[in-house]
Amino acid sequence: MIKPHGSDTLNPLFVEDDAAREALAKEAESLPSIIISSAAAGNAVMLGGGYFNPLTGYMNRADALNVADNMHTASGVFFPTPVLNVVEDPSAIEGAKRIALRDPNVEGHPVLAVMDVEAIEELSDEDMNIITEKVYGTTDMEHPGVAAFMSVGRFAISGPIQVLNYSYFEKDFPDTFRTAVQIRNEIQERGWNKVVAFQTRNPMHLAHEELCHMAMDRLGADGLVIHMLLGKLKPGDIPADVRDAAIRKMVELYFPPNSVIISGYGFDMLYAGPREAVLHAVFRQNMGATHFIVGRDHAGVGDYYGAFDAQEIFDTIPEDALDIEIFRADHTAYSKKLNKVVMMSEAPDHTKDDFVLLSGTKVREMLGKGIAPPKEFSRPEVAKILMDYYQSLNK
Ligand code: ADX
Repeated sequence: MIKPHGSDTLNPLFVEDDAAREALAKEAESLPSIIISSAAAGNAVMLGGGYFNPLTGYMNRADALNVADNMHTASGVFFPTPVLNVVEDPSAIEGAKRIALRDPNVEGHPVLAVMDVEAIEELSDEDMNIITEKVYGTTDMEHPGVAAFMSVGRFAISGPIQVLNYSYFEKDFPDTFRTAVQIRNEIQERGWNKVVAFQTRNPMHLAHEELCHMAMDRLGADGLVIHMLLGKLKPGDIPADVRDAAIRKMVELYFPPNSVIISGYGFDMLYAGPREAVLHAVFRQNMGATHFIVGRDHAGVGDYYGAFDAQEIFDTIPEDALDIEIFRADHTAYSKKLNKVVMMSEAPDHTKDDFVLLSGTKVREMLGKGIAPPKEFSRPEVAKILMDYYQSLNK
Protein backbone atom coordinates (compact mmCIF):
# COMPACT_ATOMS: atom_id res chain seq x y z
CA MET A 1 0.00 0.00 0.00
CA ILE A 2 1.12 3.57 -0.64
CA LYS A 3 3.07 4.97 2.31
CA PRO A 4 1.74 7.93 4.27
CA HIS A 5 3.40 11.28 3.65
CA GLY A 6 6.61 11.75 5.61
CA SER A 7 6.74 8.49 7.58
CA ASP A 8 6.50 4.74 7.17
CA THR A 9 3.31 4.40 9.17
CA LEU A 10 0.48 6.78 9.87
CA ASN A 11 0.66 8.68 13.13
CA PRO A 12 -2.87 9.88 13.93
CA LEU A 13 -3.02 12.19 16.94
CA PHE A 14 -6.39 10.93 18.19
CA VAL A 15 -5.91 9.02 21.46
CA GLU A 16 -7.22 5.62 20.43
CA ASP A 17 -7.03 3.83 23.78
CA ASP A 18 -10.31 4.41 25.67
CA ALA A 19 -8.79 4.46 29.15
CA ALA A 20 -6.00 6.82 28.09
CA ARG A 21 -8.49 9.09 26.38
CA GLU A 22 -10.76 9.19 29.40
CA ALA A 23 -7.82 9.99 31.66
CA LEU A 24 -6.76 12.77 29.31
CA ALA A 25 -10.30 14.18 29.17
CA LYS A 26 -10.33 14.20 32.96
CA GLU A 27 -6.96 15.92 33.14
CA ALA A 28 -8.15 18.46 30.56
CA GLU A 29 -10.92 19.66 32.83
CA SER A 30 -8.37 21.01 35.28
CA LEU A 31 -6.06 22.56 32.68
CA PRO A 32 -6.12 26.21 31.63
CA SER A 33 -8.18 26.28 28.45
CA ILE A 34 -8.95 28.42 25.45
CA ILE A 35 -11.65 28.39 22.76
CA ILE A 36 -9.89 28.06 19.42
CA SER A 37 -10.94 29.17 15.93
CA SER A 38 -12.95 26.99 13.58
CA ALA A 39 -9.89 26.75 11.33
CA ALA A 40 -7.72 25.55 14.22
CA ALA A 41 -10.42 23.07 15.25
CA GLY A 42 -10.44 21.72 11.70
CA ASN A 43 -6.67 21.34 11.91
CA ALA A 44 -7.09 19.34 15.14
CA VAL A 45 -9.67 17.06 13.52
CA MET A 46 -7.36 16.50 10.53
CA LEU A 47 -4.35 15.88 12.78
CA GLY A 48 -6.46 13.53 14.89
CA GLY A 49 -7.52 11.45 11.92
CA GLY A 50 -4.01 11.09 10.48
CA TYR A 51 -4.70 13.28 7.45
CA PHE A 52 -1.91 15.73 8.29
CA ASN A 53 0.76 13.09 8.87
CA PRO A 54 3.64 13.53 9.77
CA LEU A 55 2.82 16.69 11.72
CA THR A 56 2.55 16.29 15.47
CA GLY A 57 0.72 19.50 16.24
CA TYR A 58 0.44 23.17 15.38
CA MET A 59 3.28 24.95 13.62
CA ASN A 60 5.22 27.82 15.14
CA ARG A 61 5.89 31.13 13.42
CA ALA A 62 9.11 29.99 11.76
CA ASP A 63 7.49 26.85 10.36
CA ALA A 64 4.44 28.75 9.15
CA LEU A 65 6.59 31.33 7.35
CA ASN A 66 8.84 28.67 5.89
CA VAL A 67 5.90 26.61 4.71
CA ALA A 68 4.27 29.70 3.22
CA ASP A 69 7.50 30.58 1.44
CA ASN A 70 8.69 27.21 0.15
CA MET A 71 6.34 24.47 1.32
CA HIS A 72 8.78 23.02 3.84
CA THR A 73 8.91 23.31 7.61
CA ALA A 74 12.11 24.66 9.14
CA SER A 75 13.24 21.06 9.69
CA GLY A 76 12.59 20.16 6.05
CA VAL A 77 9.21 18.38 6.09
CA PHE A 78 7.27 19.03 2.90
CA PHE A 79 3.95 20.67 3.74
CA PRO A 80 1.98 23.04 1.49
CA THR A 81 0.02 25.17 3.96
CA PRO A 82 0.63 26.43 7.49
CA VAL A 83 -1.22 24.44 10.17
CA LEU A 84 -1.79 27.04 12.83
CA ASN A 85 -3.63 27.63 16.05
CA VAL A 86 -4.01 31.39 16.03
CA VAL A 87 -6.04 33.19 18.70
CA GLU A 88 -6.93 36.77 19.39
CA ASP A 89 -6.12 36.81 23.08
CA PRO A 90 -3.94 34.17 24.75
CA SER A 91 -4.16 35.66 28.27
CA ALA A 92 -6.30 32.76 29.58
CA ILE A 93 -3.41 30.35 29.04
CA GLU A 94 -0.48 32.72 29.64
CA GLY A 95 2.45 30.89 31.20
CA ALA A 96 0.80 27.45 31.00
CA LYS A 97 2.79 24.57 29.55
CA ARG A 98 -0.14 22.23 29.07
CA ILE A 99 -3.56 23.47 27.99
CA ALA A 100 -6.97 22.30 26.80
CA LEU A 101 -8.28 23.44 23.42
CA ARG A 102 -12.01 24.02 23.37
CA ASP A 103 -14.22 23.48 20.35
CA PRO A 104 -15.84 26.64 18.95
CA ASN A 105 -18.29 24.65 16.83
CA VAL A 106 -19.97 22.51 19.50
CA GLU A 107 -22.36 23.80 22.15
CA GLY A 108 -20.72 24.19 25.54
CA HIS A 109 -17.26 24.26 23.92
CA PRO A 110 -16.10 20.79 24.99
CA VAL A 111 -12.38 20.02 24.97
CA LEU A 112 -11.24 18.92 21.53
CA ALA A 113 -7.56 18.39 22.25
CA VAL A 114 -4.85 18.74 24.85
CA MET A 115 -1.75 20.65 23.86
CA ASP A 116 1.79 21.00 25.14
CA VAL A 117 2.59 24.63 24.52
CA GLU A 118 6.03 25.19 23.06
CA ALA A 119 5.61 28.84 22.14
CA ILE A 120 3.14 31.68 21.86
CA GLU A 121 4.29 34.12 19.21
CA GLU A 122 2.63 37.24 17.88
CA LEU A 123 2.50 37.37 14.10
CA SER A 124 3.32 40.83 12.72
CA ASP A 125 1.43 42.59 9.92
CA GLU A 126 4.28 41.60 7.66
CA ASP A 127 4.04 37.93 8.71
CA MET A 128 0.28 37.91 8.08
CA ASN A 129 0.74 39.49 4.67
CA ILE A 130 3.50 37.11 3.66
CA ILE A 131 1.42 34.11 4.67
CA THR A 132 -1.76 35.25 2.90
CA GLU A 133 0.10 36.37 -0.23
CA LYS A 134 2.02 33.10 -0.53
CA VAL A 135 -0.75 30.72 0.46
CA TYR A 136 -3.77 32.39 -1.13
CA GLY A 137 -1.96 34.35 -3.82
CA THR A 138 -3.65 37.55 -2.66
CA THR A 139 -4.19 39.73 0.39
CA ASP A 140 -7.62 40.82 -0.82
CA MET A 141 -10.07 40.67 2.07
CA GLU A 142 -12.85 39.85 -0.40
CA HIS A 143 -11.24 36.44 -0.75
CA PRO A 144 -13.16 34.21 1.69
CA GLY A 145 -10.05 32.27 2.77
CA VAL A 146 -8.03 35.44 3.36
CA ALA A 147 -10.93 36.99 5.28
CA ALA A 148 -11.20 33.89 7.49
CA PHE A 149 -7.43 33.79 8.08
CA MET A 150 -7.23 37.49 8.91
CA SER A 151 -10.16 37.41 11.32
CA VAL A 152 -9.00 34.96 13.99
CA GLY A 153 -6.20 36.86 15.70
CA ARG A 154 -2.44 37.13 15.71
CA PHE A 155 -1.12 34.89 18.46
CA ALA A 156 0.15 31.55 17.20
CA ILE A 157 0.16 28.87 19.88
CA SER A 158 2.42 26.06 18.76
CA GLY A 159 3.25 22.58 19.98
CA PRO A 160 2.16 18.95 19.88
CA ILE A 161 -1.44 17.92 20.52
CA GLN A 162 -3.44 14.87 21.52
CA VAL A 163 -6.93 14.77 20.10
CA LEU A 164 -9.97 13.66 22.12
CA ASN A 165 -12.78 13.65 19.55
CA TYR A 166 -13.69 14.66 16.01
CA SER A 167 -15.79 17.72 16.85
CA TYR A 168 -19.31 17.67 15.36
CA PHE A 169 -18.39 15.64 12.33
CA GLU A 170 -18.89 12.14 13.72
CA LYS A 171 -22.30 12.99 15.17
CA ASP A 172 -23.58 15.03 12.22
CA PHE A 173 -22.22 12.78 9.47
CA PRO A 174 -22.03 9.28 10.97
CA ASP A 175 -22.20 7.53 7.59
CA THR A 176 -19.82 9.85 5.81
CA PHE A 177 -17.18 11.28 8.15
CA ARG A 178 -14.10 9.07 8.05
CA THR A 179 -10.55 9.41 9.33
CA ALA A 180 -7.52 8.69 7.15
CA VAL A 181 -6.97 5.62 9.31
CA GLN A 182 -10.46 4.29 8.56
CA ILE A 183 -10.16 4.90 4.82
CA ARG A 184 -6.72 3.27 4.70
CA ASN A 185 -8.17 0.25 6.49
CA GLU A 186 -11.16 0.07 4.20
CA ILE A 187 -8.97 0.24 1.09
CA GLN A 188 -6.89 -2.58 2.48
CA GLU A 189 -9.95 -4.68 3.36
CA ARG A 190 -11.33 -4.24 -0.13
CA GLY A 191 -7.98 -5.28 -1.57
CA TRP A 192 -7.76 -2.22 -3.81
CA ASN A 193 -4.31 -1.42 -5.16
CA LYS A 194 -4.93 1.46 -7.50
CA VAL A 195 -7.21 3.95 -5.81
CA VAL A 196 -8.40 7.27 -7.20
CA ALA A 197 -9.45 10.04 -4.81
CA PHE A 198 -11.91 12.75 -5.80
CA GLN A 199 -12.07 15.97 -3.81
CA THR A 200 -15.35 17.82 -3.79
CA ARG A 201 -17.18 20.62 -2.07
CA ASN A 202 -20.11 20.50 -4.48
CA PRO A 203 -22.91 18.16 -5.37
CA MET A 204 -21.64 16.13 -8.28
CA HIS A 205 -23.04 17.07 -11.66
CA LEU A 206 -22.56 15.01 -14.79
CA ALA A 207 -19.13 16.49 -15.56
CA HIS A 208 -17.87 15.54 -12.07
CA GLU A 209 -19.30 12.05 -12.41
CA GLU A 210 -17.79 11.48 -15.83
CA LEU A 211 -14.48 12.89 -14.68
CA CYS A 212 -14.36 10.15 -12.07
CA HIS A 213 -15.33 7.49 -14.61
CA MET A 214 -12.64 8.74 -17.01
CA ALA A 215 -9.97 8.71 -14.32
CA MET A 216 -10.91 5.21 -13.21
CA ASP A 217 -11.02 3.83 -16.76
CA ARG A 218 -7.80 5.48 -17.92
CA LEU A 219 -5.87 4.49 -14.84
CA GLY A 220 -7.40 1.03 -14.60
CA ALA A 221 -8.26 1.78 -10.99
CA ASP A 222 -9.72 -0.74 -8.56
CA GLY A 223 -11.81 1.84 -6.79
CA LEU A 224 -12.75 5.45 -6.24
CA VAL A 225 -12.89 7.37 -2.98
CA ILE A 226 -15.23 10.33 -3.18
CA HIS A 227 -13.98 12.48 -0.36
CA MET A 228 -16.15 15.47 0.37
CA LEU A 229 -15.44 18.46 2.53
CA LEU A 230 -17.79 18.51 5.53
CA GLY A 231 -16.58 21.71 7.22
CA LYS A 232 -17.48 25.32 6.68
CA LEU A 233 -17.95 26.90 3.28
CA LYS A 234 -18.68 30.38 2.05
CA PRO A 235 -22.26 31.63 2.03
CA GLY A 236 -24.19 30.34 -0.97
CA ASP A 237 -22.36 26.99 -1.18
CA ILE A 238 -24.53 23.91 -0.71
CA PRO A 239 -24.60 22.39 2.81
CA ALA A 240 -22.85 19.08 3.35
CA ASP A 241 -25.96 16.98 4.12
CA VAL A 242 -27.55 17.98 0.80
CA ARG A 243 -24.35 17.30 -1.16
CA ASP A 244 -23.96 14.00 0.62
CA ALA A 245 -27.50 12.89 -0.32
CA ALA A 246 -26.98 13.93 -3.95
CA ILE A 247 -23.66 12.12 -4.18
CA ARG A 248 -25.08 8.95 -2.60
CA LYS A 249 -27.93 8.89 -5.10
CA MET A 250 -25.52 9.37 -8.02
CA VAL A 251 -23.24 6.57 -6.85
CA GLU A 252 -26.16 4.24 -6.24
CA LEU A 253 -27.50 4.73 -9.75
CA TYR A 254 -24.46 5.36 -11.91
CA PHE A 255 -21.45 3.49 -10.51
CA PRO A 256 -20.86 -0.26 -10.42
CA PRO A 257 -21.59 -1.79 -7.00
CA ASN A 258 -18.66 -1.77 -4.57
CA SER A 259 -16.52 0.47 -6.74
CA VAL A 260 -16.84 3.62 -4.62
CA ILE A 261 -16.17 4.63 -1.03
CA ILE A 262 -18.27 7.68 -0.16
CA SER A 263 -16.58 9.59 2.62
CA GLY A 264 -15.89 13.02 4.01
CA TYR A 265 -13.42 14.95 6.13
CA GLY A 266 -13.86 17.62 8.77
CA PHE A 267 -12.11 20.75 7.60
CA ASP A 268 -13.19 24.25 6.57
CA MET A 269 -12.60 25.18 2.94
CA LEU A 270 -9.56 27.44 2.46
CA TYR A 271 -10.28 28.42 -1.18
CA ALA A 272 -6.50 28.52 -1.58
CA GLY A 273 -6.54 27.08 -5.11
CA PRO A 274 -3.10 25.65 -5.97
CA ARG A 275 -1.78 25.43 -2.42
CA GLU A 276 -4.97 23.75 -1.27
CA ALA A 277 -4.70 21.29 -4.16
CA VAL A 278 -1.29 20.22 -2.86
CA LEU A 279 -2.67 19.96 0.67
CA HIS A 280 -5.48 17.84 -0.76
CA ALA A 281 -2.92 15.56 -2.38
CA VAL A 282 -1.02 15.20 0.91
CA PHE A 283 -4.03 14.06 2.81
CA ARG A 284 -5.28 11.76 0.06
CA GLN A 285 -1.90 10.01 0.15
CA ASN A 286 -2.26 9.70 3.90
CA MET A 287 -5.65 8.01 3.52
CA GLY A 288 -4.17 5.51 1.08
CA ALA A 289 -5.13 6.80 -2.37
CA THR A 290 -2.57 6.29 -5.13
CA HIS A 291 -4.04 8.87 -7.52
CA PHE A 292 -5.74 12.20 -7.04
CA ILE A 293 -7.94 14.03 -9.53
CA VAL A 294 -7.18 17.71 -10.06
CA GLY A 295 -9.40 19.33 -12.66
CA ARG A 296 -10.34 22.82 -13.57
CA ASP A 297 -10.12 25.59 -10.97
CA HIS A 298 -9.55 23.10 -8.18
CA ALA A 299 -10.33 24.66 -4.77
CA GLY A 300 -10.67 28.01 -6.47
CA VAL A 301 -12.95 30.94 -5.85
CA GLY A 302 -13.84 33.95 -8.02
CA ASP A 303 -11.08 34.85 -10.47
CA TYR A 304 -8.19 34.56 -8.07
CA TYR A 305 -6.51 31.64 -9.83
CA GLY A 306 -5.94 30.54 -13.40
CA ALA A 307 -8.08 27.54 -14.40
CA PHE A 308 -5.10 25.15 -14.28
CA ASP A 309 -2.83 26.78 -11.69
CA ALA A 310 -3.75 23.99 -9.29
CA GLN A 311 -2.28 21.46 -11.72
CA GLU A 312 0.80 23.49 -12.63
CA ILE A 313 1.88 23.86 -9.00
CA PHE A 314 2.66 20.13 -9.00
CA ASP A 315 5.40 20.82 -11.58
CA THR A 316 7.11 23.11 -9.09
CA ILE A 317 7.34 20.79 -6.09
CA PRO A 318 10.31 18.46 -5.59
CA GLU A 319 9.84 15.22 -7.47
CA ASP A 320 10.12 13.08 -4.36
CA ALA A 321 7.85 15.29 -2.24
CA LEU A 322 4.81 13.06 -2.66
CA ASP A 323 4.15 9.49 -3.80
CA ILE A 324 0.55 10.07 -4.85
CA GLU A 325 0.11 10.76 -8.56
CA ILE A 326 -2.01 13.54 -9.97
CA PHE A 327 -4.63 12.80 -12.60
CA ARG A 328 -4.86 16.10 -14.46
CA ALA A 329 -8.18 16.74 -16.08
CA ASP A 330 -8.98 19.36 -18.65
CA HIS A 331 -12.31 21.19 -18.56
CA THR A 332 -14.95 18.49 -18.99
CA ALA A 333 -18.37 19.17 -20.47
CA TYR A 334 -21.12 17.50 -22.46
CA SER A 335 -20.53 17.57 -26.21
CA LYS A 336 -23.70 17.97 -28.25
CA LYS A 337 -21.84 16.58 -31.26
CA LEU A 338 -20.62 13.42 -29.56
CA ASN A 339 -23.51 13.05 -27.11
CA LYS A 340 -21.27 12.45 -24.14
CA VAL A 341 -19.10 14.25 -21.62
CA VAL A 342 -15.57 14.79 -22.91
CA MET A 343 -12.46 16.70 -21.98
CA MET A 344 -12.53 19.80 -24.14
CA SER A 345 -8.91 19.41 -25.21
CA GLU A 346 -9.84 16.01 -26.65
CA ALA A 347 -12.46 17.53 -28.93
CA PRO A 348 -10.31 20.00 -30.91
CA ASP A 349 -12.87 20.38 -33.71
CA HIS A 350 -15.48 21.74 -31.27
CA THR A 351 -16.38 25.36 -30.69
CA LYS A 352 -17.76 26.60 -27.38
CA ASP A 353 -21.30 26.27 -28.71
CA ASP A 354 -20.84 22.55 -29.20
CA PHE A 355 -20.75 22.06 -25.42
CA VAL A 356 -23.47 22.33 -22.80
CA LEU A 357 -21.99 24.96 -20.49
CA LEU A 358 -23.93 26.50 -17.61
CA SER A 359 -22.57 28.88 -14.99
CA GLY A 360 -22.99 28.05 -11.31
CA THR A 361 -25.19 31.12 -10.92
CA LYS A 362 -27.45 30.03 -13.76
CA VAL A 363 -27.78 26.51 -12.33
CA ARG A 364 -28.63 27.85 -8.86
CA GLU A 365 -31.23 30.14 -10.38
CA MET A 366 -32.86 27.26 -12.23
CA LEU A 367 -32.85 24.95 -9.22
CA GLY A 368 -34.35 27.68 -7.04
CA LYS A 369 -37.22 28.04 -9.49
CA GLY A 370 -37.79 24.30 -9.51
CA ILE A 371 -36.43 23.95 -13.05
CA ALA A 372 -34.18 20.93 -13.51
CA PRO A 373 -30.96 21.65 -15.42
CA PRO A 374 -30.75 19.70 -18.69
CA LYS A 375 -29.86 16.02 -18.37
CA GLU A 376 -26.63 16.82 -20.20
CA PHE A 377 -25.63 18.84 -17.16
CA SER A 378 -27.15 17.03 -14.20
CA ARG A 379 -28.62 13.61 -13.51
CA PRO A 380 -32.38 14.11 -12.94
CA GLU A 381 -32.23 12.27 -9.59
CA VAL A 382 -29.43 14.59 -8.42
CA ALA A 383 -31.28 17.65 -9.73
CA LYS A 384 -34.37 16.63 -7.76
CA ILE A 385 -32.46 16.61 -4.45
CA LEU A 386 -30.94 20.01 -5.23
CA MET A 387 -34.26 21.50 -6.35
CA ASP A 388 -35.91 20.34 -3.10
CA TYR A 389 -33.10 22.02 -1.15
CA TYR A 390 -33.23 25.33 -3.04
CA GLN A 391 -36.99 25.44 -2.87
CA SER A 392 -36.91 24.82 0.89
CA LEU A 393 -34.85 28.03 1.13
CA ASN A 394 -37.60 30.01 -0.56
CA LYS A 395 -40.25 28.91 1.94
S1 ADX B 1 -13.36 22.00 -5.23
O1 ADX B 1 -13.24 23.32 -4.64
O2 ADX B 1 -13.59 20.97 -4.28
O3 ADX B 1 -12.21 21.75 -6.11
P1 ADX B 1 -15.52 21.07 -6.95
O4 ADX B 1 -16.23 20.21 -5.98
O5 ADX B 1 -16.40 21.83 -7.89
O6 ADX B 1 -14.65 22.16 -6.18
O7 ADX B 1 -14.50 20.27 -7.83
C1 ADX B 1 -14.05 19.01 -7.53
C2 ADX B 1 -12.98 18.57 -8.52
O8 ADX B 1 -13.54 18.48 -9.83
C3 ADX B 1 -11.80 19.49 -8.67
O9 ADX B 1 -10.64 18.74 -8.95
C4 ADX B 1 -12.16 20.33 -9.87
O10 ADX B 1 -11.01 20.85 -10.50
C5 ADX B 1 -12.85 19.32 -10.74
N1 ADX B 1 -13.86 19.87 -11.66
C6 ADX B 1 -15.08 20.37 -11.34
N2 ADX B 1 -15.77 20.72 -12.44
C7 ADX B 1 -14.97 20.45 -13.49
C8 ADX B 1 -15.09 20.57 -14.93
N3 ADX B 1 -16.20 21.01 -15.50
N4 ADX B 1 -14.04 20.20 -15.67
C9 ADX B 1 -12.91 19.71 -15.11
N5 ADX B 1 -12.74 19.55 -13.80
C10 ADX B 1 -13.75 19.91 -12.99
